[in-house]
Amino acid sequence: MNLNTKQFFSDAERGKYAIGQFNASTADQIRAIMRVAKDLRSPVIIGTSEGECAFIGARQAVKLCEAYEEEAGVPVILNADHTYKDVQDIKNLDTIQALLDAGYNSIHFDGSVLSFEENVKWTKQVVAMCKEKDQGISVEGELGFLPGASQISKEKVEIKLEYLTDPAQALAFVEATGIDRLAVSVGNSHGISFQEDRLDIERIAAIKKAIGDRAVLVLHGGSGIPDEQIQAAIKNGIRKININTELRVAFHDALKATLVGSEQTTPYKFLPSAMDAVARVVEGKIKLFGSGNAAL
Ligand code: G3H
Ligand code: ZN
Repeated sequence: MNLNTKQFFSDAERGKYAIGQFNASTADQIRAIMRVAKDLRSPVIIGTSEGECAFIGARQAVKLCEAYEEEAGVPVILNADHTYKDVQDIKNLDTIQALLDAGYNSIHFDGSVLSFEENVKWTKQVVAMCKEKDQGISVEGELGFLPGASQISKEKVEIKLEYLTDPAQALAFVEATGIDRLAVSVGNSHGISFQEDRLDIERIAAIKKAIGDRAVLVLHGGSGIPDEQIQAAIKNGIRKININTELRVAFHDALKATLVGSEQTTPYKFLPSAMDAVARVVEGKIKLFGSGNAAL
C-alpha cells in the first residue's frame, strides 16, 4: 500500500480539502467505499476500530485494501482507528506491533484519556515503533477528549469545556511526540445524538495557527455534523475527517429494508442494497470534503 501519506496531506493542504476516513468491518463495506473512491478519483482512508479489525482480521483488511487500491488506481491508507477499547490496554503496545506486522500503514494511537505527560510518553513510543518498522508509516495522536461511541444515542452527549484541545498544548504535544497527525476535540463527539454537534471553528483556527504545518489536523466524530460546519472546519485547517456511524446506519437500514419480509437467501442478491447505501454516504462526504479528482 501507498506509504507516502505526507504527499497525500500536503496535496490536501495545498488544495484546501479534507480526506475522508471511512470505517469498515466487512469486505462488502470496503468494496462499496472503494467503488466510490475509484469513480470520484479520490484518495481514501479505510479505518478499522479495535472491534472492526477483530471482526475482519488485520491481515485480511490489509490484503483487501491492497487489492482494491491496485484495481481502483487511487491511493489508500489503512488506519488502525483508536487502537484500544479499554484504558488498561493502552500501554500494551503488542497490539500495535501486530497491526504493523500485518501491514497497516497508519496507526491512530488514542492516548487522550491519559494525563498530558503520559499521553506524550506513550504516543512518542508508538511513533518510534512505527518509524522503526518503516519511515513511511504515519501516526495520528489525540489530545482533548471526545465523548460518545459510533452509534445513535438517545442521550444528550455532554461536551465539557475541559475536554477541548488547547492550542498551546497542541503545539507542545506535536513537537514532543513527532506525530504526523493530531486528532482534536473541538465540539465534536462520536456517534449521532439528537442534539447536533456545534464545532468551535475559532478553536480549530487557533490550533492550526499554533501548529502550522507540523501536523495534519483531524476531526473525529464526523457523523451528524451539519455540512456548513464541516465546510468551515476544512476552511480553517481540518484535513482528515472520520466517518463511521453514518455508514453503519446506512448499511443497517438498507439491509433491514431488503430482508424484512423477503425470502431472499442469496448474499450477493441481498447485500448490494446495503453496499449502495454505504456508497451513497461516501459519495456525499467525498463531494463535501472536496477530495474528488485529487487522485488523478
Ligand atoms: O474514529 C472514528 C470516527 O471518529 C467516527 O465517528 O461515528 O461519529 O462518524 P462517527
Ligand atoms: Zn474517532
